[in-house]
Amino acid sequence: MIEKIINLINDKKEYALNFYKQNGLIKFVIFLLKRINVIPCKATLVFLKKDLNEVNCKIDGEYFFTAATESVILSDKNFYDGFHTQKQALNLIRNGKELFVYKEGNDIAYYVWIEKEFATINWMRLKVKFPKEIAYLSAEYTVPSYRNKGIACKIRTELMKYLKKQGVKFIFCVVHPNNEIALKLNKSNGFVDYQIATLKRFLKIGILSIRKNGTNNSRRMFIPFSNTKFAWQCFFNS
Ligand SMILES: CC(C)(COP(=O)(O)OP(=O)(O)OC[C@H]1O[C@@H](n2cnc3c(N)ncnc32)[C@H](O)[C@@H]1OP(=O)(O)O)[C@@H](O)C(=O)NCCC(=O)NCCS
Repeated sequence: MIEKIINLINDKKEYALNFYKQNGLIKFVIFLLKRINVIPCKATLVFLKKDLNEVNCKIDGEYFFTAATESVILSDKNFYDGFHTQKQALNLIRNGKELFVYKEGNDIAYYVWIEKEFATINWMRLKVKFPKEIAYLSAEYTVPSYRNKGIACKIRTELMKYLKKQGVKFIFCVVHPNNEIALKLNKSNGFVDYQIATLKRFLKIGILSIRKNGTNNSRRMFIPFSNTKFAWQCFFNS
């Protein structure tokens, strides 16, 4: 177990350090124990989707957002997009994930990632696969001093047009059920919640229960026996 913890710290040293600085020792230890599955953990997420058929691609002038390159991330020594350290963000970019940012003057005020074909839903550490015409919107973050000014709403509206032009047909994302602001933001952007997933995990074993939104219709998947890569789409089309 000690060896597992040391490996984890080495792998995710920067992230762990950040987590420790932000949350203190007790939460840090609980976080570590959950990561190596020695204390049971439970996570619930709401899955939402947006049909880009409903989106009008017309845009007046330039997009407000820009696609961040490696050099944008490297140029900021203290890079932190709310979820990833500089090293993690670089790895994601190098693995083909796209980061979009919105700047106010020289400051980055908003970050959002678009992932295609495969992704890890971090909150559940669930690896998922999806077709090319579907995009996963993740790790969205408005810097606190720029919040509640309509930035996320504005950039999402543009991003939907941009992605539709690239051939994307649907976007999906996940939100913690207590994150009222993110749920409100999704509602404003016309996203609909199609399923709610709860994962209970202990050691290497887990049960993933997925319920169709607003119904009692549900499915269960057993980890590690079921193929959970397509869990995101259980009730996507119904
Ligand atoms: C969620 C988040 C990205 C929203 O960014 P933002 O730029 O502040 O969002 P907007 O200003 O466009 O507001 C979006 C909606 O939330 C509402 N809202 C924003 N901040 C709010 C607050 N503090 N209290 C109540 N409502 C709020 C807005 O009124 C708006 O709703 P409306 O369209 O019905 O008016 C931001 O709060 C954030 O970074 N949170 C932490 C990270 C996070 O939770 N990310 C989502 C992960 S799934």
